[in-house]
Amino acid sequence: MQDSERDGFIVWKDEYSVQFRIIDEQHRGLVAMTNDLLKGCKAGGNSRDAVFMETVRKAVEYAQVHFYTEEKYMKQAAYPELEQHKGEHAAFVSKVQETVAAFEQGKADPFDLAIFLKEWLLSHIAVSDKKYAPYLAALPQ
Ligand SMILES: [Fe+2]
Repeated sequence: MQDSERDGFIVWKDEYSVQFRIIDEQHRGLVAMTNDLLKGCKAGGNSRDAVFMETVRKAVEYAQVHFYTEEKYMKQAAYPELEQHKGEHAAFVSKVQETVAAFEQGKADPFDLAIFLKEWLLSHIAVSDKKYAPYLAALPQ
């Protein structure tokens, strides 16, 4: 990814869809929170700090609610790569916990979190999540 792309806003693409309404809605929520943080980073100062605190809170909530949702449906669909996928979710939780700890010590970097969230979208949502889509297709929604 080029530097100019790294701090650019995320534009939702149809190819990110897993064709499962509630999960797509949650993914769009992640895109919105990441874009808000990127916007705050560009603005700097107090607005950056405020949006950063809000993003940390939302990222913790996202990890709990969204991963629970995905894992529930993957299990229902007997998705064979569930355990591997849960490992990726656990890595996200660790990163967010590290960010919270760094934040409490006044050492967190808002831009670092924004880039992490953006890269998560491109590496996890656009790749790993897409792999369970055919399995979830059989479930009622
Ligand atoms: Fe996932």
